[in-house]
Amino acid sequence: MDNKCISTEKFPVLSYRIYGDGNTIVLLHGFPLDGSIWNEVAEELANEYRVIVPDIPGSGASTFAGEELSVEDMAESVLLILKAESIDNAIIAGHSMGGYAAIAFADLHPEMTAGLGMIHSSAAPDTEEKKEQRRKSIELFKKGGKNPFIKQMVPNLFASGSRQGINDTIDKTTEIALLTDNKSLIAFYNAMINRPDRRPTLKSSDIPVLWVIGEEDEVIPHKNLIQQTSHANVNFVYTHSNCGHMGMLEVPEAVIEDIQSFAAYCYRLKNK
Ligand code: MLT
Repeated sequence: MDNKCISTEKFPVLSYRIYGDGNTIVLLHGFPLDGSIWNEVAEELANEYRVIVPDIPGSGASTFAGEELSVEDMAESVLLILKAESIDNAIIAGHSMGGYAAIAFADLHPEMTAGLGMIHSSAAPDTEEKKEQRRKSIELFKKGGKNPFIKQMVPNLFASGSRQGINDTIDKTTEIALLTDNKSLIAFYNAMINRPDRRPTLKSSDIPVLWVIGEEDEVIPHKNLIQQTSHANVNFVYTHSNCGHMGMLEVPEAVIEDIQSFAAYCYRLKNK
């Protein structure tokens, strides 16, 4: 694995890890984490593929200029990395907020998207209620409430029935989340509030879509996602029991297999 970095005016530090060689899979992390949540999955996929794991601007080692960010900016950061690596085509898979960026990438650069992976993620926009909740959280961050917010939020990302047995994983995930600064947390929530409905993208495009869904996901409920899995022309749908919103940490072997099957299909299709 190599740690790499590029720099632009908008993204002074754009840090990413690159593993293996072959056809490319990009793995984007969710809110408010960093690329390291994909370590186990990336190492395994790298036996067959080139795997690129960015820190989304504002996360991990990556930064962005100014105060604002959109999911399209996140997609642009992926484009910059692919260009820097001279890659013209990749599977773009994202976890939750990373999926909002992945589908923005597929929308803006369909010719570069061999497949779209929605890992515990949705093509629908926020409901008004969700937007209101996020605005309240933004006020809380501004008042210095980040730490209690994150300590309460992170355990709820994991399936309730399994939390007790995975305290170390929850603690480690909490530590990563606590490293994200207030400016980034606020920018991420505004990016999610402002993202458009991308269900039409699914309906109008020929890009195959992978859905990884946790039956106990409390962030994006199972039934809301199942409704979206018939929109695209080709859908690979995997639902997992004993899994909440964090499949790559809760059921990593299953998520690796899901991505492998999907990638084999996408690249067979491309090379026909
Ligand atoms: C994430 O895991 O990236 C976020 O929980 C997504 C969201 O809040 O919609």
